[in-house]
Parts: sequence; structure tokens; C-alpha cells
Amino acid sequence: MQAEDGAVEGRGRATGISVHPVLGPFSTTDEAAYRAWREAKLAAHPTDPSELLVDIADPLAPTLAELAAIEAAIARADMCLYRFAADRTDEGHARRAVSALAAACGLTRFEKHRSAGPDGLVAIEVAEDAHRSGFIPYSTRPIGWHTDGYYAYEGPERAIRAMVLHCVRPAAEGGVNALLDHEIAYIRLRDRDPALVEALMRPDAMAIPPSVEEDGSVRDWAIGPVFEVDPATGGLLMRYTARKRHIVWADDSLTRAAVTALEEICATDPLVFRLRLDAGQGVICNNVLHDRTAFGDESHSTRLLYRLRSYDRLFASPGLARTTT
Ligand SMILES: [Fe+2]
Repeated sequence: MQAEDGAVEGRGRATGISVHPVLGPFSTTDEAAYRAWREAKLAAHPTDPSELLVDIADPLAPTLAELAAIEAAIARADMCLYRFAADRTDEGHARRAVSALAAACGLTRFEKHRSAGPDGLVAIEVAEDAHRSGFIPYSTRPIGWHTDGYYAYEGPERAIRAMVLHCVRPAAEGGVNALLDHEIAYIRLRDRDPALVEALMRPDAMAIPPSVEEDGSVRDWAIGPVFEVDPATGGLLMRYTARKRHIVWADDSLTRAAVTALEEICATDPLVFRLRLDAGQGVICNNVLHDRTAFGDESHSTRLLYRLRSYDRLFASPGLARTTT
């Protein structure tokens, strides 16, 4: 069984110089901006995932009020939990519904993935076909903490900024997702020591060796930061995996301390939300940290989720109809 990517041990890795945003909440030289942003973020962030739940009567045509509620949840926690009205549960309707909802929230550019349909959706289910067999997402095995697309790095403009995970059929047992707003992870880390976030903003912080990826691409070394400011939106991007194999962290004590701290934060933070998506429910998010527990029996599993990854940040499109005033 491979990890989410079929990594190949290989050659050495490049090193780079440190680059930081000049000003703003994600600059360690702008303490005032960070403090103001941090206070507002923590004050607004929910303590229970039920605060992020939005009911959507007709996902093919979400109302402005429903979209405003989703946007408000995204503003608070970078994620929204939604629930479609339970009158339709077939797969075709679910695909169209997820696509329509994503488009209404400003997602238009999707990851190219060999297992995706023309709508960009990838079916996450136990699979034995040649493309998916051997990759953990298509098994019943647990998946550790990560952000989607961490194994690639082609600059911030090609980052996976948003992700939808929609449940068509849950597992009989297990398949629980944990979610943690990556901005909260940033705050926890910086509050421990700003040098830890500085270490993870270095352009050579995290390297993934050459590999055949889940999306079918064959990649050379993917070397980049964990945290990065999105030049397009000013938002915080995060690229992370908790896996231990086929990953090369920058070889210094600060990076090692930061990685250990992130593991502790994901394991213990009170703002980690754990939930099991039911049929017709999903999460739409700015690619927050998440994991998955194991589920059911490999030979009998009928669990089906659809996943959509986008290069767009939610509600950031200038052409999007405003849902708030
Ligand atoms: Fe994921």
C-alpha cells in the first residue's frame, strides 16, 4: 500500500532563502496587525461545529440567504458544513448539486485529476481500478492530518485553495473526519513562538520526493513552504502532511520543533471539530487541515464521498454576486 502518493526515494534537495510578507497579520515583523487579526479571529471562531451548519433547500439553486450563511461560516472558520434537503440521494443529482454549490461559492478552476469526471469531482470510495488502487484515499484505511494537494508545489498561484467533501453514502461505522481551521493552527504555532511559523514559511521547509501521485501526475521534487501568503487574495495558504515517510523536512531544529508542535496542535486543540458526514451532508472549505478515521470492511464498503479541489478561494471571485452588504 502506498501513501497518498507513490513516492520514490531519491536525490538531494535544493535549499532557498527565507521570504516573508512585508506587512500584515502573517508577517512576524508586523505584531500589531497580527494581534488585531488574531483577536478578531478567535472571537469569531465557533467552538462547536453545529454553528457552521447551513441547510440548503435546493442545492441546484442556492438562495442568497443560504450563500450568505455559507460565506459567514467561511469568514469565521474557513469552513462550512452544509446539509442538502433529503429528498434526493442519487449520485447524479449529488454531482450536479455539488457542482452548482461550488460554482455559487466562487469555485470555477478545478484540479486536473485522472480520476475526475468532466465536472472535476473525484469519487472517494474503495476502488480496485488501475488508477485508484493502492492509494489510501480509495481504501478503508485512516488518513492522517493534511491539507489537500500538499504533495505538489508550483508556487502559490497553483495552490489548492478550496475543497469540497460531500457524502453520498456514509460507512456503516467509522469514516469520521476531523477538521481544524489552518488559520487557528497558525495562531497556535505563532503564539508558542513566532520563530516556528518563520521556519515553516521558508521556501524549503517541506519537500516531497519524486513520486507518482494520486492524481496520476509524475512529479519531480516538490519543495515549498508550509505557510504562505496568497498573493492573489492575501489569505493564508497551508501545505502540510503529518505522514512520516516520503517527506523531507528542512534539517534544522526550528523546523523539527515546528513539525512536532503542529502534530500536538492537531491532536489536542479544542477547536478541532470531529464529525461523521451523513448522506447529503458535506464540508466546503478553504482547504483546512483534516484527517479521516478508518471505516468498515474493505470488501463490503459502500461509502461514497465526492471530492472537489479548486485553485480558487471561496467567495474571492470579483465577479461573484455579493451575498452580504
Ligand atoms: Fe484530504
